[in-house]
Amino acid sequence: MTLHLCSLLVFSLPQALQSSTIDSITASSPLVQNQTLVSSSQIFELGFFTPKGSAKQYVGIWYKKMTPSRVVWVANREKPLGHTDQSASLTIGEDGNLKLLDGRQNTVWSTNVMAKSNYSEALLSDFGNFVLQDRNENIMWESFDEPTDTLLPNMKIGVNVKKGKKLNLTSWKGEDDPSLGSFVMGVTLETPPQLFTWNGSSPYWRSGQWDKTKFIGIPNMTNTYYDLQQDNVQGTSYYYLNNYNNSIFGYTFISSKGSVKSVYWTNGWLTYWKAPAPTNPCEIYGICGPFGVCNPFSSPMCRCLKGFKPRSDEEWNRGNWTRGCLRKMELNCQKSASAAASTTVEKDMFWQMRQIKLPDSADHLLIDNVEGCQSWCLENCSCLAFSYVNAIGCMAWSKDLLDTQQFSMGGEDLFIRLADASAGVPTRTKLIISLSTISGIILFGAGISVCGLSKWRGKFRKMTIPRLFTSEELLRDTAWKDQMKEDDTSNLVVYDFNSIRLATDNFNVENKLGQGGFGPVYKGKLNDGKEIAAKRLSSSSSQGIAEFKNEILLISKLQHRNLVRLLGCCIEEEEKILVYEYLPNKSLDTFLFDSKEKEKLSWSVRFHIIQGVARGLLYLHHDSCLRVIHRDLKVSNILLDEKMNSKISDFGLSRMFEGTQVLVNTHKVVGTLGYLSPEYAMGGIFSEKSDVYSFGILLLEIISGKKNTSSDYPGQHLNLLAYAWHLWCEDKVLDLMDEGIADAFLVSEVMRCIQLGLLCTQDHATDRPNMLAVVLMLNGESNLSQPKQPTYTFSRSLAHEVPSQEESIRSMNTITITTVEGR
Ligand SMILES: *[C@@H]1O[C@H](CO)[C@@H](O)[C@H](O)[C@H]1NC(C)=O
Ligand SMILES: *[C@@H]1O[C@H](CO)[C@@H](O)[C@H](O)[C@H]1NC(C)=O
Ligand SMILES: *[C@@H]1O[C@H](CO)[C@@H](O)[C@H](O)[C@H]1NC(C)=O
Ligand SMILES: *[C@@H]1O[C@H](CO)[C@@H](O)[C@H](O)[C@H]1NC(C)=O
Ligand SMILES: *[C@@H]1O[C@H](CO)[C@@H](O)[C@H](O)[C@H]1NC(C)=O
Ligand SMILES: *[C@@H]1O[C@H](CO)[C@@H](O)[C@H](O)[C@H]1NC(C)=O
Ligand SMILES: *[C@@H]1O[C@H](CO)[C@@H](O)[C@H](O)[C@H]1NC(C)=O
Ligand SMILES: *[C@@H]1O[C@H](CO)[C@@H](O)[C@H](O)[C@H]1NC(C)=O
Repeated sequence: MTLHLCSLLVFSLPQALQSSTIDSITASSPLVQNQTLVSSSQIFELGFFTPKGSAKQYVGIWYKKMTPSRVVWVANREKPLGHTDQSASLTIGEDGNLKLLDGRQNTVWSTNVMAKSNYSEALLSDFGNFVLQDRNENIMWESFDEPTDTLLPNMKIGVNVKKGKKLNLTSWKGEDDPSLGSFVMGVTLETPPQLFTWNGSSPYWRSGQWDKTKFIGIPNMTNTYYDLQQDNVQGTSYYYLNNYNNSIFGYTFISSKGSVKSVYWTNGWLTYWKAPAPTNPCEIYGICGPFGVCNPFSSPMCRCLKGFKPRSDEEWNRGNWTRGCLRKMELNCQKSASAAASTTVEKDMFWQMRQIKLPDSADHLLIDNVEGCQSWCLENCSCLAFSYVNAIGCMAWSKDLLDTQQFSMGGEDLFIRLADASAGVPTRTKLIISLSTISGIILFGAGISVCGLSKWRGKFRKMTIPRLFTSEELLRDTAWKDQMKEDDTSNLVVYDFNSIRLATDNFNVENKLGQGGFGPVYKGKLNDGKEIAAKRLSSSSSQGIAEFKNEILLISKLQHRNLVRLLGCCIEEEEKILVYEYLPNKSLDTFLFDSKEKEKLSWSVRFHIIQGVARGLLYLHHDSCLRVIHRDLKVSNILLDEKMNSKISDFGLSRMFEGTQVLVNTHKVVGTLGYLSPEYAMGGIFSEKSDVYSFGILLLEIISGKKNTSSDYPGQHLNLLAYAWHLWCEDKVLDLMDEGIADAFLVSEVMRCIQLGLLCTQDHATDRPNMLAVVLMLNGESNLSQPKQPTYTFSRSLAHEVPSQEESIRSMNTITITTVEGR
């Protein structure tokens, strides 16, 4: 019974919702009530539906196979049909428009476009777009142009000023009522753009400014599949999830209570992001009023900015912060404007605040350095604050500073203009501070962060981490080369481009070892006979060279026997090449996924490889002074030396690209499908636990000799992980083992690895072990806990119907373990 239940939960296919399906609507074949229109690959379905507890009927779109499914689009949200209307139909009218007719043939809803042809046909695409097209497949109308409350992958929300088009999401009025609710989500046209939700006409939540890869007001967000494209010439700003491969099933929607949620499908619907976060009242727009700053960890959470005081102490102390704060002392520039020109007046100062969600309503200035940004602000008396964010540039504020938040991680520096010298630091000092924080971002940024400040300080001297450069130095190439020479711990060689070109025979295709995420890799032989692997980074931009150099110096410090050694680099004009040690046995995938080569991978070799990867990763995460998150761990990034020792390659690169934005345009997504943890793939929220997830997938791949993303698994299994879980439930995990493994193996060792693979790939990052625990478990020095079903949300939503199912799975798995170990 429990066995059956277990597999049923993970792989249950949806029950047929309607009796028959059609694949297009034409004048001669309308959609009637017991039919649905399905997309060609059966991903989406359109039909009549009645919300639970409602007496009204609507036409909507939902995911066909992924149940329980939510309606993602509604045609007639303001014009429902009666619940009892059995003869309504969706058809093509004489004017070529789609029409929803009620039982008495009245038009309830219509697409209302000028049809230019005498023939129309309506189809549902595999992206969930309901399209009305003419004979020549010209699109006359599409549902993606009329969003309801849900943003599907490949659909856009935003503005087009020229066409006067606003694509906003509008919430349902209630959970059972699709009519227009009061919450709206959209993109602003300002530069840089922001994502907003409004309650009626008042802002309710704000993402913060878009820095071309992420919103800076969401501190732990990084690159995702989501993109925001602004074109100031066309007057457009669009936010969308780029998913042309249709490999992601998910959506973002605004709930009837005003919260934005992003969900995606991994054997169940998983909510990976919510805004405003229910636990953080500071995310409610402007909660502390003008010139207030919100910190969820302080009590009271609202304070006035430095140099400001509550407009009304009495209101403020009651916790009514809406009217915010007032300036304590008039600005010097305001005084000087009123004073006689001859009197000398002191200059204003700037007060620096760190880790801030920058206020709303910034003006973007075309000034590309901090000093310029500061002096512009100082010269213009209406400038109240400024901030310089590398990926955005100079921003200045002339309106009330609203919706400012103090973060405990991430965030930006905000400089507030004040009159009082004692409140601020003199201008000169501050410039230095701001410069160092900008360089500091490279170090403290998301990919590489320093492992605890005190530890870092302690190791700083020993490790001689290269000093970071100031902006003047960045302009001079020699400074960097000198630093390389000076810096005795890094034996990094700076190659000239010609020697690399000769070594690789002018980047001959014959010498190509592979194509990595950041560019092709070539084998080469230097003049002295030394063999190298040269990674030629694909880049069209020369931006960020200096940061790039700093990153190379940092990465060259990472040395471990399970990491590929960086020997040197070459940077000349557009060319950026990293030179690595050459490993004759190439990468793990050339063995693992090749029916012949895989014979060389006996179980003991595989286990040795697994242990090596685990130790390399442990070093990156915990032991090296810099905490490095790999972010693209996969079989093809594991190289093997002649003794089949595994070495991780490409570490630090994703960080490098994020920091420098070199590849922003070409490589939006860092990471590889199939290895991305739920929270990273969809939310861009990553941590070392995202690497642990990739490691878990890798582990299962090494054991099974199959790719996670291939689809040839017995039964209905979507991927390797689902298949592994299925076998785990059925007490047949050893079936997962690659048939190519010929040698003897310890059952308990294989079992341990599979269990560990499942633990590492838990949906929730907190359920995954860290690499230290992983290494201990691999070596059998620590006990393994029981993995949970990798479909957390799904099992929870079913929990109402099937009480205590988690209990039964858990106990069943305990039995599994004991039986196998007893064999
Ligand atoms: C359902 O569709 C079939 C044709 O597929 C039709 O014969 C039948 O009358 C329909 N039933 C209702 C209740 O509309
Ligand atoms: C529709 O237009 C096509 C050419 O545009 C013509 O050949 C066809 O006869 C027209 N059909 C009707 C029913 O008017
Ligand atoms: C739609 O979004 C725009 C910004 O893109 C916003 O200005 C507008 O108020 C929104 N529409 C509604 C009805 O709230
Ligand atoms: C949205 O606005 C309405 C009316 O202005 C108000 O009653 C409601 O509490 C607001 N909702 C939230 C979640 O702030
Ligand atoms: C990201 O930040 C939000 C709140 O700011 C927090 O709730 C969430 O746990 C964080 N996620 C990660 C992975 O750190
Ligand atoms: C999408 O498909 C193309 C070719 O079909 C491939 O090159 C690309 O890597 C795929 N992207 C993702 C994210 O899978
Ligand atoms: C807060 O103060 C404002 C302005 O004085 C007032 O209009 C509002 O009703 C107050 N809100 C509460 C909850 O007391
Ligand atoms: C000062 O700043 C305001 C607001 O940004 C702007 O409108 C004005 O043109 C600026 N004045 C000068 C002299 O730059």
